Amino acid sequence: MKGIILAGGAGSRLYPVSKVYSKQLTLIYDKPLIYYPLSILMLSDIREILIISNEETIPLYQKLFDDGSDYGIRIEYALQTAPNGIAESFIIGEDFIKDDGVTLILGDNIFYGDLDFIYEAIQKNDGATIFGYRVNDPERYGIVEFDGSGKAISIEEKPLKPKSDFAVPGLYVYDNEVVSIAKNIIPSKRGELEITDVNNYYLNKGKLNVKKIGRGIAWLDTGTPESLLQASNFFGVIEDRQGLKVACIEEIAFNKKFIDEEKFRDIISKIPKSLYRTYLEKILKDS
Ligand code: DAU
Repeated sequence: MKGIILAGGAGSRLYPVSKVYSKQLTLIYDKPLIYYPLSILMLSDIREILIISNEETIPLYQKLFDDGSDYGIRIEYALQTAPNGIAESFIIGEDFIKDDGVTLILGDNIFYGDLDFIYEAIQKNDGATIFGYRVNDPERYGIVEFDGSGKAISIEEKPLKPKSDFAVPGLYVYDNEVVSIAKNIIPSKRGELEITDVNNYYLNKGKLNVKKIGRGIAWLDTGTPESLLQASNFFGVIEDRQGLKVACIEEIAFNKKFIDEEKFRDIISKIPKSLYRTYLEKILKDS
Protein backbone atom coordinates (compact mmCIF):
# COMPACT_ATOMS: atom_id res chain seq x y z
CA MET A 1 0.00 0.00 0.00
CA LYS A 2 1.32 3.40 -1.03
CA GLY A 3 0.41 6.69 0.64
CA ILE A 4 -0.27 10.11 -0.85
CA ILE A 5 -0.56 13.36 1.07
CA LEU A 6 -2.24 16.10 -0.96
CA ALA A 7 -0.82 19.26 0.51
CA GLY A 8 -1.13 22.14 -1.90
CA GLY A 9 -4.17 24.15 -2.89
CA ALA A 10 -4.85 27.86 -2.98
CA GLY A 11 -5.51 28.23 0.76
CA SER A 12 -6.82 31.73 0.16
CA ARG A 13 -8.84 31.65 3.38
CA LEU A 14 -5.52 31.80 5.19
CA TYR A 15 -4.16 34.88 3.43
CA PRO A 16 -1.60 36.44 4.06
CA VAL A 17 0.38 33.35 5.08
CA SER A 18 -0.89 31.61 1.92
CA LYS A 19 1.05 34.19 -0.09
CA VAL A 20 4.24 32.47 1.04
CA TYR A 21 3.39 28.77 1.47
CA SER A 22 0.45 26.45 1.68
CA LYS A 23 -1.37 26.08 4.95
CA GLN A 24 -0.14 22.57 5.75
CA LEU A 25 3.04 24.21 7.08
CA THR A 26 1.25 26.37 9.63
CA LEU A 27 1.80 25.39 13.24
CA ILE A 28 -0.73 23.25 15.03
CA TYR A 29 0.39 23.85 18.59
CA ASP A 30 4.06 22.76 18.30
CA LYS A 31 4.54 21.24 14.86
CA PRO A 32 3.49 21.86 11.26
CA LEU A 33 0.02 20.71 10.30
CA ILE A 34 1.33 18.16 7.77
CA TYR A 35 2.96 16.14 10.60
CA TYR A 36 -0.51 15.02 11.69
CA PRO A 37 -1.60 13.33 8.40
CA LEU A 38 1.94 12.04 7.86
CA SER A 39 1.84 10.38 11.26
CA ILE A 40 -1.43 8.62 10.35
CA LEU A 41 0.21 7.04 7.29
CA MET A 42 3.25 5.98 9.34
CA LEU A 43 1.08 4.51 12.09
CA SER A 44 -0.73 2.58 9.34
CA ASP A 45 2.64 1.06 8.33
CA ILE A 46 2.68 2.91 5.03
CA ARG A 47 6.34 3.66 4.34
CA GLU A 48 6.28 4.84 0.73
CA ILE A 49 4.74 8.27 0.60
CA LEU A 50 4.22 10.88 -2.12
CA ILE A 51 3.67 14.49 -1.10
CA ILE A 52 1.86 16.48 -3.80
CA SER A 53 1.99 20.24 -3.61
CA ASN A 54 2.68 23.47 -5.45
CA GLU A 55 5.94 24.97 -6.69
CA GLU A 56 6.40 27.31 -3.71
CA THR A 57 5.84 24.70 -1.01
CA ILE A 58 7.56 21.56 -2.33
CA PRO A 59 11.07 22.90 -1.54
CA LEU A 60 9.93 23.62 2.02
CA TYR A 61 8.60 20.09 2.50
CA GLN A 62 11.90 18.80 1.11
CA LYS A 63 13.74 20.88 3.68
CA LEU A 64 11.56 19.41 6.43
CA PHE A 65 11.57 15.74 5.44
CA ASP A 66 14.23 15.28 2.74
CA ASP A 67 13.82 11.72 1.36
CA GLY A 68 12.22 10.48 4.59
CA SER A 69 15.18 8.25 5.56
CA ASP A 70 15.51 9.95 8.98
CA TYR A 71 12.09 8.46 9.73
CA GLY A 72 12.74 5.09 8.08
CA ILE A 73 10.35 5.86 5.25
CA ARG A 74 10.68 6.93 1.61
CA ILE A 75 9.19 10.28 0.66
CA GLU A 76 8.84 11.52 -2.91
CA TYR A 77 7.46 14.83 -4.10
CA ALA A 78 5.30 15.74 -7.08
CA LEU A 79 4.01 18.99 -8.46
CA GLN A 80 0.38 19.91 -8.91
CA THR A 81 0.47 22.94 -11.20
CA ALA A 82 -2.97 24.22 -10.09
CA PRO A 83 -5.64 23.06 -7.63
CA ASN A 84 -7.43 20.94 -10.23
CA GLY A 85 -9.13 18.71 -7.71
CA ILE A 86 -8.36 16.05 -5.14
CA ALA A 87 -8.80 13.18 -7.61
CA GLU A 88 -5.95 14.55 -9.74
CA SER A 89 -3.65 13.05 -7.07
CA PHE A 90 -3.98 9.63 -8.69
CA ILE A 91 -3.09 10.92 -12.15
CA ILE A 92 -0.10 12.85 -10.82
CA GLY A 93 0.84 9.85 -8.67
CA GLU A 94 0.39 7.13 -11.31
CA ASP A 95 4.10 6.28 -11.67
CA PHE A 96 4.52 6.31 -7.91
CA ILE A 97 1.49 4.09 -7.25
CA LYS A 98 2.50 1.54 -9.91
CA ASP A 99 0.50 -1.67 -9.28
CA ASP A 100 -0.26 -1.03 -5.61
CA GLY A 101 -3.28 0.14 -3.70
CA VAL A 102 -3.14 3.69 -2.37
CA THR A 103 -4.30 5.61 0.68
CA LEU A 104 -4.84 9.32 0.14
CA ILE A 105 -4.93 11.72 3.05
CA LEU A 106 -5.54 15.44 2.73
CA GLY A 107 -2.72 17.45 4.25
CA ASP A 108 -5.12 19.51 6.35
CA ASN A 109 -7.01 16.61 7.92
CA ILE A 110 -6.32 15.60 11.52
CA PHE A 111 -7.55 12.46 13.26
CA TYR A 112 -7.07 11.79 16.94
CA GLY A 113 -8.11 8.98 19.27
CA ASP A 114 -8.07 5.21 19.08
CA LEU A 115 -7.38 4.88 15.34
CA ASP A 116 -7.14 1.09 15.05
CA PHE A 117 -10.19 1.13 12.79
CA ILE A 118 -8.22 3.20 10.27
CA TYR A 119 -5.13 0.95 10.36
CA GLU A 120 -7.36 -2.10 9.96
CA ALA A 121 -9.37 -0.58 7.10
CA ILE A 122 -6.15 0.14 5.25
CA GLN A 123 -4.86 -3.39 5.70
CA LYS A 124 -8.13 -5.07 4.76
CA ASN A 125 -9.26 -2.80 1.94
CA ASP A 126 -11.10 -4.42 -0.95
CA GLY A 127 -12.25 -1.93 -3.61
CA ALA A 128 -12.49 1.37 -1.76
CA THR A 129 -12.92 2.31 1.89
CA ILE A 130 -13.98 5.74 3.10
CA PHE A 131 -15.40 6.97 6.39
CA GLY A 132 -18.43 8.86 7.66
CA TYR A 133 -18.23 11.30 10.59
CA ARG A 134 -21.12 13.23 12.09
CA VAL A 135 -20.72 17.00 11.80
CA ASN A 136 -22.64 20.13 12.62
CA ASP A 137 -22.15 21.81 9.24
CA PRO A 138 -22.73 19.10 6.60
CA GLU A 139 -23.10 21.51 3.68
CA ARG A 140 -19.32 22.09 3.78
CA TYR A 141 -18.33 18.49 2.99
CA GLY A 142 -18.86 15.42 0.88
CA ILE A 143 -21.95 13.87 2.50
CA VAL A 144 -22.86 10.21 2.63
CA GLU A 145 -26.43 8.99 2.98
CA PHE A 146 -27.22 5.62 4.59
CA ASP A 147 -30.32 3.46 4.24
CA GLY A 148 -32.14 1.91 7.21
CA SER A 149 -29.71 -1.01 7.32
CA GLY A 150 -26.69 1.31 7.49
CA LYS A 151 -25.66 0.77 3.86
CA ALA A 152 -24.29 3.81 2.01
CA ILE A 153 -26.65 4.77 -0.83
CA SER A 154 -25.47 8.19 -2.03
CA ILE A 155 -22.59 10.64 -1.75
CA GLU A 156 -22.94 14.29 -2.65
CA GLU A 157 -20.28 16.99 -2.69
CA LYS A 158 -21.20 20.02 -0.57
CA PRO A 159 -24.98 19.61 -1.01
CA LEU A 160 -27.23 22.62 -0.37
CA LYS A 161 -29.72 20.24 1.28
CA PRO A 162 -27.62 17.50 2.92
CA LYS A 163 -29.33 14.10 3.12
CA SER A 164 -27.46 13.29 6.34
CA ASP A 165 -25.02 14.77 8.85
CA PHE A 166 -22.28 12.30 7.91
CA ALA A 167 -19.33 13.98 6.25
CA VAL A 168 -16.65 12.05 4.38
CA PRO A 169 -13.27 12.92 5.95
CA GLY A 170 -10.19 13.40 3.79
CA LEU A 171 -8.84 9.87 4.20
CA TYR A 172 -9.54 7.51 1.34
CA VAL A 173 -8.31 3.95 0.73
CA TYR A 174 -8.38 2.53 -2.80
CA ASP A 175 -7.30 -0.43 -4.84
CA ASN A 176 -5.20 0.15 -7.96
CA GLU A 177 -8.24 0.75 -10.16
CA VAL A 178 -8.46 4.28 -8.77
CA VAL A 179 -5.82 5.44 -11.26
CA SER A 180 -7.91 4.57 -14.30
CA ILE A 181 -11.09 5.83 -12.61
CA ALA A 182 -9.49 9.22 -11.93
CA LYS A 183 -8.36 9.43 -15.55
CA ASN A 184 -11.91 8.92 -16.77
CA ILE A 185 -13.90 11.33 -14.63
CA ILE A 186 -14.67 14.78 -15.98
CA PRO A 187 -14.18 18.06 -14.12
CA SER A 188 -17.18 19.30 -12.11
CA LYS A 189 -18.94 22.66 -12.56
CA ARG A 190 -16.30 24.23 -10.32
CA GLY A 191 -13.62 22.85 -12.66
CA GLU A 192 -12.23 20.19 -10.30
CA LEU A 193 -11.71 16.43 -10.55
CA GLU A 194 -13.89 15.57 -7.58
CA ILE A 195 -13.00 12.83 -5.13
CA THR A 196 -16.75 12.39 -4.63
CA ASP A 197 -17.06 11.29 -8.29
CA VAL A 198 -14.39 8.64 -7.67
CA ASN A 199 -16.26 7.44 -4.59
CA ASN A 200 -19.56 7.35 -6.49
CA TYR A 201 -17.94 5.20 -9.16
CA TYR A 202 -17.00 2.61 -6.50
CA LEU A 203 -20.45 2.97 -4.88
CA ASN A 204 -22.24 2.25 -8.17
CA LYS A 205 -20.06 -0.82 -8.71
CA GLY A 206 -20.90 -2.10 -5.22
CA LYS A 207 -17.24 -1.80 -4.21
CA LEU A 208 -17.38 1.05 -1.70
CA ASN A 209 -17.11 0.39 2.04
CA VAL A 210 -18.18 3.28 4.22
CA LYS A 211 -17.26 2.97 7.89
CA LYS A 212 -18.91 5.23 10.41
CA ILE A 213 -16.48 6.85 12.84
CA GLY A 214 -17.71 7.04 16.43
CA ARG A 215 -17.93 10.20 18.52
CA GLY A 216 -14.89 9.19 20.58
CA ILE A 217 -12.65 10.10 17.66
CA ALA A 218 -11.71 13.68 16.85
CA TRP A 219 -11.65 14.59 13.18
CA LEU A 220 -10.54 18.19 13.00
CA ASP A 221 -10.92 20.56 10.15
CA THR A 222 -8.22 23.17 9.68
CA GLY A 223 -9.41 25.40 6.87
CA THR A 224 -9.84 28.70 8.71
CA PRO A 225 -7.93 30.77 11.30
CA GLU A 226 -10.54 29.82 13.95
CA SER A 227 -10.23 26.09 13.25
CA LEU A 228 -6.42 26.29 13.32
CA LEU A 229 -6.60 27.96 16.72
CA GLN A 230 -9.08 25.36 17.97
CA ALA A 231 -6.84 22.51 16.79
CA SER A 232 -3.79 24.12 18.43
CA ASN A 233 -5.64 24.52 21.70
CA PHE A 234 -6.94 20.95 21.50
CA PHE A 235 -3.45 19.44 21.10
CA GLY A 236 -1.93 21.91 23.55
CA VAL A 237 -4.30 20.66 26.25
CA ILE A 238 -3.66 16.99 25.48
CA GLU A 239 0.13 17.24 25.21
CA ASP A 240 0.40 19.35 28.35
CA ARG A 241 -1.78 16.97 30.34
CA GLN A 242 -0.07 13.74 29.25
CA GLY A 243 3.46 14.94 28.68
CA LEU A 244 3.31 13.05 25.39
CA LYS A 245 3.37 14.49 21.92
CA VAL A 246 0.79 13.78 19.25
CA ALA A 247 2.10 13.19 15.70
CA CYS A 248 5.77 13.29 16.67
CA ILE A 249 7.13 11.53 13.59
CA GLU A 250 10.58 10.80 15.05
CA GLU A 251 9.00 9.07 18.05
CA ILE A 252 6.65 7.10 15.79
CA ALA A 253 9.54 6.00 13.56
CA PHE A 254 11.45 4.78 16.63
CA ASN A 255 8.50 3.08 18.33
CA LYS A 256 7.52 1.30 15.13
CA LYS A 257 11.14 0.24 14.63
CA PHE A 258 11.37 2.00 11.28
CA ILE A 259 14.69 3.30 12.67
CA ASP A 260 17.04 1.75 15.23
CA GLU A 261 18.36 3.35 18.42
CA GLU A 262 21.56 4.53 16.77
CA LYS A 263 19.66 6.39 14.06
CA PHE A 264 17.30 7.85 16.68
CA ARG A 265 20.28 9.13 18.69
CA ASP A 266 21.77 10.54 15.52
CA ILE A 267 18.66 12.53 14.53
CA ILE A 268 18.22 13.84 18.07
CA SER A 269 21.82 15.07 18.05
CA LYS A 270 21.05 17.18 14.97
CA ILE A 271 18.03 18.92 16.49
CA PRO A 272 18.80 22.32 18.02
CA LYS A 273 18.24 22.72 21.78
CA SER A 274 14.46 22.98 22.07
CA LEU A 275 11.49 21.48 23.87
CA TYR A 276 11.10 19.13 20.89
CA ARG A 277 14.64 17.81 21.40
CA THR A 278 14.19 17.48 25.17
CA TYR A 279 11.06 15.46 24.50
CA LEU A 280 12.85 13.06 22.14
CA GLU A 281 15.74 12.68 24.62
CA LYS A 282 13.21 11.63 27.23
CA ILE A 283 11.64 9.10 24.87
CA LEU A 284 15.09 7.63 24.22
CA LYS A 285 15.96 7.53 27.93
CA ASP A 286 12.66 5.82 28.82
CA SER A 287 12.94 3.22 26.06
O1 DAU B 1 -11.95 17.59 4.46
C1 DAU B 1 -12.83 16.67 3.87
C2 DAU B 1 -13.47 17.22 2.61
O2 DAU B 1 -12.38 17.52 1.70
C3 DAU B 1 -14.43 16.22 1.95
O3 DAU B 1 -15.56 16.02 2.78
C4 DAU B 1 -14.89 16.71 0.59
O4 DAU B 1 -15.66 15.73 -0.04
C5 DAU B 1 -13.68 17.03 -0.28
O5 DAU B 1 -14.06 17.60 -1.53
C6 DAU B 1 -12.78 18.03 0.43
O6 DAU B 1 -13.47 19.25 0.59
P1 DAU B 1 -12.70 20.62 0.88
O7 DAU B 1 -13.62 21.75 0.60
O8 DAU B 1 -12.13 20.56 2.26
O9 DAU B 1 -11.56 20.58 -0.15
P2 DAU B 1 -10.46 21.66 -0.40
O10 DAU B 1 -10.65 22.20 -1.77
O11 DAU B 1 -10.40 22.62 0.75
O12 DAU B 1 -9.13 20.78 -0.40
C7 DAU B 1 -8.71 20.01 0.70
C8 DAU B 1 -7.20 20.11 0.85
O13 DAU B 1 -6.53 19.60 -0.31
C9 DAU B 1 -6.71 21.53 1.02
O14 DAU B 1 -5.75 21.53 2.05
C10 DAU B 1 -6.07 21.91 -0.25
C11 DAU B 1 -5.67 20.59 -0.86
N1 DAU B 1 -5.88 20.60 -2.31
C12 DAU B 1 -7.14 20.69 -2.78
C13 DAU B 1 -7.40 20.65 -4.13
C14 DAU B 1 -8.81 20.74 -4.66
C15 DAU B 1 -4.81 20.48 -3.16
O15 DAU B 1 -3.65 20.41 -2.72
N2 DAU B 1 -5.05 20.44 -4.49
C16 DAU B 1 -6.30 20.52 -5.03
O16 DAU B 1 -6.45 20.47 -6.27
